[in-house]
Amino acid sequence: MSRFWTGCAAILALVIGISIHGAAPASAQGSVEVMHWWTSGGEAAALEVLKDDLESKGVTWNDAPVAGGGGEQAMTVLRARVTGGNPPTAVQALGFSITDWAELDVVANLNEVADAEGWDDVIPDALQSFSKYDGKWIAAPVNVHSTNWVWINKSALDAAGGRAPTTWDELVSVLDRMKSNGIIPLGHGGQAWQDATIFDAVVLSLGDDFYKSALIDLDPGALSGAKMREAFDRMEVLRGYVDDNFSGRDWNLASALVIEGEAGMQMMGDWAKGEFLKAGQVPGEDFVCIRFPGTQGSVTFNSDQFVMFEVGEESRPAQLLMASAIENPVFQSAFNVVKGSVPARTDVPDTDFDDCGKKGMKDLAEANRGGSLFGSMAHGHAVPPAVQGAIYDVVTQHFNREISSAEAVESLASAVSAVR
Ligand code: GAL
Repeated sequence: MSRFWTGCAAILALVIGISIHGAAPASAQGSVEVMHWWTSGGEAAALEVLKDDLESKGVTWNDAPVAGGGGEQAMTVLRARVTGGNPPTAVQALGFSITDWAELDVVANLNEVADAEGWDDVIPDALQSFSKYDGKWIAAPVNVHSTNWVWINKSALDAAGGRAPTTWDELVSVLDRMKSNGIIPLGHGGQAWQDATIFDAVVLSLGDDFYKSALIDLDPGALSGAKMREAFDRMEVLRGYVDDNFSGRDWNLASALVIEGEAGMQMMGDWAKGEFLKAGQVPGEDFVCIRFPGTQGSVTFNSDQFVMFEVGEESRPAQLLMASAIENPVFQSAFNVVKGSVPARTDVPDTDFDDCGKKGMKDLAEANRGGSLFGSMAHGHAVPPAVQGAIYDVVTQHFNREISSAEAVESLASAVSAVR
């Protein structure tokens, strides 16, 4: 072909490329394979914000979802992928499980982007302790969720006296009234991580010091003492307010019960808000968000991070682009408004957040200042996965009435020490 025709062909290809794909042809920047467990309506809507953002930057998104709230199933699939030498580019992960991957030396180094963008200055230390390993940034935090929330159907609350409970006794009396009004007082799904999410809040409701010594420091005295007995007794009381079909139910279906007014409330992290929003509900009008009674002023948190795996030079540009896109303040706001969480950076304004989101941001900042911000045991931010699993087992056996409160207290400390 003459030079002239080669030039024409090149121009034509360019024009076709631009008209088909717009200014940034898809895949121009490579692709990312992203493993996650965001498969509910609200979660998928939030993920779409990330996917669209990356696609607008020319990065192709290969979706690798593994359904299962809390991420246990995703971590099982991930282990097989990493063992087989074929990790995804980026994986949603929580707290101590990120550290486990870092210890195996299979994760990427994001310092080039993190240093250029000053992540050290804007991401709170509580998150950095998981996003960094040995001085290297290895994960990009997307959000901060907190787990000590209660989501209440507004009409059901009005019918039960209209006052959101602030103490344990008030909570029990609202649950009782909802029961006599003929609805399921507590919408819940019987899965170990969901039982553990309630347990986090119940333990915290017995005091910050107790939460810290039992679920963070794993103090044997706290794990086996009178307060722990009280925590299990409270769990037993709550168990009395769930319906007969709770076993195995997914968390978002429990949220749906509250959204539809079949259940009065759900005790769940603020990803539940994503479901209410997706259903077109408005905080304050259709539902009410409160801190678990007795935990006002304190926060148990978890942060979803995308841990980046060592996937070779070819995929690195897209991987770095993804990391950078996640930490963009505009993205942080847009994503978290939909997800129900709050930004992972301290410099993002709360302007676009609804009342629950604004409260979430304020609570988090205050708890952080006041020393009452704690990692969530249920969501991987208090103890390593093996210990978390041991606590899950006891909590869930107890919630399923296989063991009494006395037996649960008796076995908790030994179950924990067996895996440490
Ligand atoms: C949490 C995660 C949230 C939410 C939830 C339910 O562990 O941090 O983002 O997805 O599980 O799947």
